[in-house]
Amino acid sequence: MATKKDESTGLMKLLEDQLADLYYVEKQLVKALPKMAKTATNEDLRTAFEEHLAETETQVGRIEQMFEALGKPAKAKKCPAIDGILEEGKEIMDEFADDVALDAGLVSAAQKVEHYEITSYGSMKAWAEQLGLEDLVGLIDETLEEEKAADEKLTEIAEAVVNIEAETEEGDEEEEEVEEGTKGRSASNGKSGSSNGNGKGTSSKGAKQGARTKQTA
Ligand SMILES: [Fe+2]
Repeated sequence: MATKKDESTGLMKLLEDQLADLYYVEKQLVKALPKMAKTATNEDLRTAFEEHLAETETQVGRIEQMFEALGKPAKAKKCPAIDGILEEGKEIMDEFADDVALDAGLVSAAQKVEHYEITSYGSMKAWAEQLGLEDLVGLIDETLEEEKAADEKLTEIAEAVVNIEAETEEGDEEEEEVEEGTKGRSASNGKSGSSNGNGKGTSSKGAKQGARTKQTA
């Protein structure tokens, strides 16, 4: 039968494993974000990626502090999940390179990363609390809040800018009409194609229009 000591040893092992996973994730993101920023055509989106790059560099340092607090050397463990998510992001950058829906695709790819991180840091925070590792809880929380804020920022950008830009690209003369139409749709766009994580669509008509443009190009 498992004893209390066995339980905390197992949880500790899980926490160290997750920390090594996230160390790999953050380091991969430090490499991926500059390319995403360079690829984004929307200025707000580019700025959001650049700002999150600076935060991610801080997060790498925070993980090193966590290893230090545990008295362990900082060690990264390859994470196939983030490799897959980033690979999909690369595919979007290639396939939609000249498409009006490129930014909508980039937002979606970036939000998949954020959601992976929010889940991982969230679990790790609960384990650290369980193990009474207060200094770790504080460090995890700082990063967790940054990830949540980054995710919300991406949702804002998707709703306020990316979709409208994708729609207005086809003809400036239609701009006013399209903007009004967008407002109408966003109030009732429950049927939109993709979710941005909070239940609202990120790329209803914009993405469809982009797909059409590509087909007829
Ligand atoms: Fe991060």
